[in-house]
Amino acid sequence: MTIHSTQRSDDCIVFRDAAVTRGGRLIWQHGDFAIPQGSVTAIVGTNGTGKTTMMMAELGLVPLSHGSVTVLGKPAGAMNRQIGYVPQSYAADIDANLTAEQSVLLGLTGTRFGIRPVTKTQRQEAAQAMRFVGLEGKERYRLSEMSGGMRQRVAIAQALVCRPRLLMLDEPLANLDLASQHALVHVLARLNREYGMTIQMVAHDLNMLLPILTGAVYLLDGHPHYSAMNEVLDSDLLTHLYGTRVQVVTTPQGDMFVTPSPDQTGDAPVDTHTAAEVVAFHHHGAEAGAGRED
Ligand SMILES: Nc1ncnc2c1ncn2[C@@H]1O[C@H](COP(=O)(O)OP(=O)(O)OP(=O)(O)O)[C@@H](O)[C@H]1O
Ligand SMILES: [Mg+2]
Repeated sequence: MTIHSTQRSDDCIVFRDAAVTRGGRLIWQHGDFAIPQGSVTAIVGTNGTGKTTMMMAELGLVPLSHGSVTVLGKPAGAMNRQIGYVPQSYAADIDANLTAEQSVLLGLTGTRFGIRPVTKTQRQEAAQAMRFVGLEGKERYRLSEMSGGMRQRVAIAQALVCRPRLLMLDEPLANLDLASQHALVHVLARLNREYGMTIQMVAHDLNMLLPILTGAVYLLDGHPHYSAMNEVLDSDLLTHLYGTRVQVVTTPQGDMFVTPSPDQTGDAPVDTHTAAEVVAFHHHGAEAGAGRED
């Protein structure tokens, strides 16, 4: 078997017997799966299992110690211009003196060094990306004046502005309140549906994402696996994966979601959704394109 004989043209990300070593330590190995174009996938796994490392490998920023990663038909790194990336530490990486608009424009000009004239078209594209994430009117705010949630929208607008084919977000829901999480999921759903963008994100709480997820890569016992969503939602597997008791529940609509078991006690994270919220949320997204918008 050769690597390329198994690659299908509708695959977006293809791992073939991939392994990564960092600082002399094996992080994960035997990564052997393909993520389809147009999919919305989560990368799940406990802290330190190598989720961020996986995204960096896909961007060609961390070399594999074995195997291959192909992204958008080319070796990892070659297609980065068609990838939007929102890193886990986006808030720490940015220059807080920039305005929101300047920051978004970096996604087009690619550099903050030197003086580059910005074209009218670029400015319009930046405005459109900012509108998409709900930042209209905030163009002139400095990042230092914005809340964490607003900065995150700036980071997403910056990743979007070049109209990537693949959007990668590392823990985009962390530090967002419930309303902002809903808003972000809605934005991601639209990007996937209206622009056919392939989306991959690292996430710890799948509840919010279930209406749009088509699959998940789970990092378990040092091996990444990919499953379509109906296969990954297995209580025992998720319990093993999270290291804490997890339950899968079927709503009256037939949608499933993950919740800590009723016997969960103490300091474990608790699902904050009421049943009504979950049911309401599950109305849209599942039937992509056909559902109502709210
Ligand atoms: N620059 C580095 N050099 C050496 N080892 C590293 C480096 N960055 C990360 N690691 C190690 O690689 C492993 C995976 O790290 P990674 O950041 O990918 O985990 P993660 O799954 O994203 O964790 P988290 O949920 O905390 O974000 C960790 O054991 C970490 O210590
Ligand atoms: Mg990480």
